[in-house]
Amino acid sequence: MITEVLTQALSSALADYGVKKAVVSLEHPVEEQFGDWSSNAALQYIKQVTQFAQPKELATALVGKLQQTLKTNPAIESVSVAGPGFINFTLSQSYWLSQLERLGAVKDARELIAHSGAGKTAIIEYSSPNIAKPFTVGHLRSTIIGDAIANLYEALGWQVHRDNHVGDWGTQFGKLLYALTTWGDRVTIAKSARPIKALVELYVQFHQAAAENPALEDYGREWFKRLEDGDKEARELWQWCVDLSWQEFDRIYQQLNIKFTENNGRGYGESFFENRMDQVIEILEEKLPQEQLETHGGYYGEGEDGAKLVFFKNEALPSLMILKKDGATLYSTRDLATDYFRLQHYDSPTLIINEVGAEQTLYFKQLFRVEEMLGWYQSGQRVHVRHGLYRFKDKKMSTRKGEVIWLEEVIHEAHKRALVLSKGNEASAAAVAIGALKWNDLKSEAARDIVFDWQAMLSMKGNSGPYVQYAAVRAQSVLAKAAKTKTALSNTYQFNPQEMVLIRQLDRFAETVEQAAGEYAPHHLASFLFELAQRFNVFYNHQPILKAQAEKRVVRLSLTQATARILRAGLKLLGIDTPEEM
Ligand code: ARG
Repeated sequence: MITEVLTQALSSALADYGVKKAVVSLEHPVEEQFGDWSSNAALQYIKQVTQFAQPKELATALVGKLQQTLKTNPAIESVSVAGPGFINFTLSQSYWLSQLERLGAVKDARELIAHSGAGKTAIIEYSSPNIAKPFTVGHLRSTIIGDAIANLYEALGWQVHRDNHVGDWGTQFGKLLYALTTWGDRVTIAKSARPIKALVELYVQFHQAAAENPALEDYGREWFKRLEDGDKEARELWQWCVDLSWQEFDRIYQQLNIKFTENNGRGYGESFFENRMDQVIEILEEKLPQEQLETHGGYYGEGEDGAKLVFFKNEALPSLMILKKDGATLYSTRDLATDYFRLQHYDSPTLIINEVGAEQTLYFKQLFRVEEMLGWYQSGQRVHVRHGLYRFKDKKMSTRKGEVIWLEEVIHEAHKRALVLSKGNEASAAAVAIGALKWNDLKSEAARDIVFDWQAMLSMKGNSGPYVQYAAVRAQSVLAKAAKTKTALSNTYQFNPQEMVLIRQLDRFAETVEQAAGEYAPHHLASFLFELAQRFNVFYNHQPILKAQAEKRVVRLSLTQATARILRAGLKLLGIDTPEEM
């Protein structure tokens, strides 16, 4: 790798000026005309060098050394000083030709990605909808972003476990069962177009009735108790709700092409941990006694009203409730049991990611802190990737209560609109519709709110899924028209500026994947692909490809092929298919 050559040359040049074991990094200069790689090593290490006062002087001296050491390296065009002391490296035409050859040698561009994650295990948990509740746009975001992150880690050679922490347990099920047995009719519900909607309505009805008659709360508790105790009727009703909900989830996952690997593809829902919570309570009692508050940074104890909580030293965080005063377990109890189970079941996973809405940020801070206090995980091993909200541009959608939109209606609408873009081709329309939806979620930083705007989402202009898919289709169709040529790349070829702009971008695919995974931020890959599509379009519009003279033709076809493959592979990592035609 060229970056290793450059950083080594830099470290040894620094050693000549007395800086031992320098750790230098390289970045791409914002303006490509300044070179391909840039280092701030002179600014970073000036304090350790007695000979020079100004970073720029050190940079100049280092450049002198580098020019000597790199003189015989055919990949290096030039090394120069810029600004207050940056060192810029420009790579040579022969380097770019060899890169183009490298890009051309792989059929699937994912082969360009180094397996930096070999031997590491990640559990990536996403989607996590709730039983008998609507699959919200928040769950949609989690599904799309989490899946993309899992794909990125897989591409880097990690062993990835895809988990779904379905909300299928908790005292609310007692209330639902009460409502269901009191007011509901299972036959009608099962037959209705939206069974989940009917279940939600029953749950709402319970709360309205309980406001009038608080005794209902006790009935709800009784039902939950029956459920916990394994009462046959309660279990059967609960299972019925679970199955109804999964009918809908399965349809959604199928349309979005989403899969989970754990627990037979359904993920370890909260109910899986029903009998695994006692153990965790014991661990809390044993490991976090009040006397050791100082050493652990917190303790597990009783609150004023009898509930059990983890209290943090100096109230660094608000205390986290683990058991209610009646002894009932909570969401947090199940999360602790989940992460304890993961520790054992997966033989110490390297990394666990929860893709969950930003509104749960504080909760995950508390949870992770407790898990660190228990010595289960080190900081950095537990990651909450948070997403922001959807904002609706379309009034019609925003007037629906809350954030409840029926995802299937959205997919249906997207499909209808995509059919126009894909000239009536059904298979392509499906790829375009899902691509547009997913891209909208992935194009900007997950934590930011996103706008839901049909027009923009399905526009062929601007930063949209269809725009990038279209660039890939275009590149593919050029290749389809090109008869096989035998001409090899000429090793004296000089790239023109638009070709350079394209190949520079192509060359950054693998490092972008690494960055996107490392920052749990698929939007870096989306931005990269959008930029690549734009650069390709400029190239395509200005440079004849098929009609170019032989030497140019072979280079441009290689560039086109690399573009097609990288766009396709990159989109695939984001969970988006490239249609055959558009
Ligand atoms: N079911 C939860 C919700 O809809 C999300 C679960 C997130 N994951 C977790 N481990 N707590 O809000």
